[in-house]
Amino acid sequence: MSRIGVIGAGYVGLTTAACFSRLGHTVVCADVDEAKVSALGRGEVGAHEPGLAELVAEGLRSGRLRFVRGNAEALSEVDFVFLCVPTPTGPDGAADLTAVHAVLREARDAVSPGCVLVIKSTVPAGTTERVASLVGRSDVRVVSNPEFLREGHAVDDFLRPQRVVVGSEAEDAARRVVGLYAGTGAPALVTGSASAELVKYASNCFLAMKLSYVNSLAELCERVGADISDVTEGMRLDDRIGSAFLEPGPGWGGSCFPKDTRALLSTADEVNVDFPLLRATIGTNTHQAHRVVAMVRDAVGHLAGARLGLLGLTFKAGTDDLRDSPALAVAALLAEQGARLTGYDPCVDTDCGPVRVLDSPDAVARDADGLVVLTEWPEFAELDWPNLAAAMRRRVIVDTRNLLPLDKVTEAGFHLVSLGRAA
Ligand code: NAD
Ligand code: UGA
Repeated sequence: MSRIGVIGAGYVGLTTAACFSRLGHTVVCADVDEAKVSALGRGEVGAHEPGLAELVAEGLRSGRLRFVRGNAEALSEVDFVFLCVPTPTGPDGAADLTAVHAVLREARDAVSPGCVLVIKSTVPAGTTERVASLVGRSDVRVVSNPEFLREGHAVDDFLRPQRVVVGSEAEDAARRVVGLYAGTGAPALVTGSASAELVKYASNCFLAMKLSYVNSLAELCERVGADISDVTEGMRLDDRIGSAFLEPGPGWGGSCFPKDTRALLSTADEVNVDFPLLRATIGTNTHQAHRVVAMVRDAVGHLAGARLGLLGLTFKAGTDDLRDSPALAVAALLAEQGARLTGYDPCVDTDCGPVRVLDSPDAVARDADGLVVLTEWPEFAELDWPNLAAAMRRRVIVDTRNLLPLDKVTEAGFHLVSLGRAA
């Protein structure tokens, strides 16, 4: 078993630290955020992530997991250091590597001989090789090991990943990193570092492209009298297409797809590769938020002064993460056009920009001119429709996740508009 330092205790860092300690390694997890580190030391996990709090508690109890403020301890006297710091979108669309660079500079004088520095943050192709000079130590290797976990499934995805990808110009260091995942049984792919880095962007951007495709297809369905659910069901039967990522929605969001699509486009621009497919993937997603707003306007009749209740605010169900949530993008556009917004989300209890957050679907339905379903929380499919209908001023629902039972909702007297179905 190894001694591991994890830098950054966010979604990825905390999951990495807790799961490596579960696999038997000894882990020191560092963050610059003092309040976060203190809370984690008491076993308080802020994120809504199934199984994570239990793993953190187990790690703290066993003594195999510790949280520290500042990176010194997590860099020294360990065999591996995992960098899990943010790589947000910079002003020109490229990934901002400030945090990665800062940690590598700190590592230069801190890490023990033979230590392997592992970049788990999502970084553009070529970064790992380029930044090795910031460390400038011939006895220390820098390796790429991108992370593929999904929020809401982080622990399961980490402990039972579909693949472990490690990129390095030094075969031995790559093999040592692969060895850390021995307990997961996952197939490992060892590549050069640029290829490993690109696997990450290639995967996220491909999934985003699939979603933009299906969202455009839904728009087409509405015009030609087809039903997107039937069309995607037919597509799913072809295993070359695959069955996942074919649900239309208000647009794809979250902390990674928007930033990673822009970053890959920026990489392509830098090396003079035209990538119109990626540009269209992003453009289609921007269009989708405007299209949802137009659907709401058409269904309600007007937006200025309309009282709208939003069901769901997070970027998808199963997470409390609001970063780059399409629900909030739609809300901002609705508010710009004069709509007055309330919202309910099982994981959100504070107001979000123009959305006054209330504590139940009933509360947002009261005197509303319309409801808009923006996140696919399963509980929204089970609401008491007659009760909601009685509370509303107008019985209109726009369901951007195609989640609601058409028969029950229309029986209660609602006019229901869904994506990809002829009105
Ligand atoms: P996050 O914002 O949740 O967490 C990052 C943490 O790093 C924060 O707690 C922050 O305080 C800390 N931090 C920032 N600078 C630091 C420094 N210099 N030293 C120590 N700690 C520092 O971010 P995240 O969602 O965990 O993402 C981290 C990276 O992983 C990004 O590159 C992201 O693209 C990638 N990624 C994220 C996901 C995901 O689902 N969130 C999945 C795969 C990959
Ligand atoms: C995504 C990837 O799935 C992970 O593999 C990756 O590690 C991660 O990004 C990352 O790099 O951060 P995540 O952001 O948690 O994970 O969310 P997804 O479940 O992929 O959903 C992304 C967006 O697509 C959400 O807004 C979701 O609502 C939307 N979506 C997804 C649809 O609209 N329809 C679908 O059929 C699937």
